[in-house]
Parts: sequence; C-alpha cells; structure tokens
Amino acid sequence: MMRKETIVIALAVASVAALVVRASTPPSYAKEVEPIFLKHCSDCHGGDNSKKGLDLSKDKGYANLLQHKSQEEPLMQLVKAGDPAASYLWLKVSHTATEGRGMPRTIFGAKKLPQAQLDTVRDWIIQGANP
Ligand code: HEC
Repeated sequence: MMRKETIVIALAVASVAALVVRASTPPSYAKEVEPIFLKHCSDCHGGDNSKKGLDLSKDKGYANLLQHKSQEEPLMQLVKAGDPAASYLWLKVSHTATEGRGMPRTIFGAKKLPQAQLDTVRDWIIQGANP
C-alpha cells in the first residue's frame, strides 16, 4: 500500500510541475499581441508612411518596438521588457502618455482598446516581451 506521505509528495511534485509549465509559456508577440495591433494600429502604423516611423505591420512590429527609443519621449524605450511603466508603448495604449494622444487614435480623438486586449499587452511586457 502506498504511504500517505508518498501521495502528498507526488501531489506536490505534480503541482510544481504544472506551475513550471505555465510559467514557461509567456505570451508571445506573434501569437497574442500582433493580431491586436494589425487590427487596430496598422492603418496608421504600417508601411513607409507610418506615423512616427513606427511600422507595426505584419512581421515588422516586434523589431520596431524592441530596442527602439520613442520619438515623442526620447528618454524612453518603446518597450522595456518586464517594465510596462518604462515602456512608452504602454503609456500610449493606456492613455497615460503626456505627449500626443492615446492610441489607437481616431479622427475624433482617441479610443481605448478593450480591457482584455490591454491586459494582454501589459502581460506580454511584464512576462519578458517575447517574440
Ligand atoms: C488614426 C491613426 C492612428 C492609429 C489607428 C494609431 N496611431 Fe499611433 N500614432 C498616430 C499618430 C498621428 C502619432 C503621433 C502623434 C500622437 O502621439 O498623437 C502616433 C504615435 C504613436 C506612438 C508613439 C511613437 C513614438 O516613437 O513616440 C506609439 C507607441 C503608437 N502611436 C502606438 C500605436 C498603437 C499600439 C496603436 C494601436 C493600438 C496605434 N498607435 C494606432 C496615429 C495612429
């Protein structure tokens, strides 16, 4: 018969393993974030005439966001992995930037992405801004 301690240890190992699996799959730009930006941003941030030179069109956005300084706020990175408050992209989409308007802009001003999409962008940055 299996001893109670053995069962407890087996359960503990199983739950740690489950946590490790979850922690090892952070959100990815290509899977979770790019679809949002293609839908809501690439009309203005796509191709050669991208606003502020920020091209977020397919397969371009990641390289243009990481290791790039903001043009509006040159002391800030557009995305600083792990740190939304230090990521100008986050200030723009959360409408807390002091320059320009919140994103996505509209002809009337600006609207906010739905909360679930904002959460996705924020989690992506917090969990390492992976490709
Ligand atoms: C209707 C056009 C339009 C749309 C849609 C739009 N933008 Fe912008 N974006 C602009 C303009 C114009 C600027 C510069 C002026 C300003 O900040 O208001 C800008 C500036 C920015 C900047 C600052 C760039 C820098 O180097 O400082 C970021 C970041 C940005 N947009 C991200 C986004 C994201 C992310 C989306 C989609 C969620 C988006 N924008 C949607 C027009 C747009």
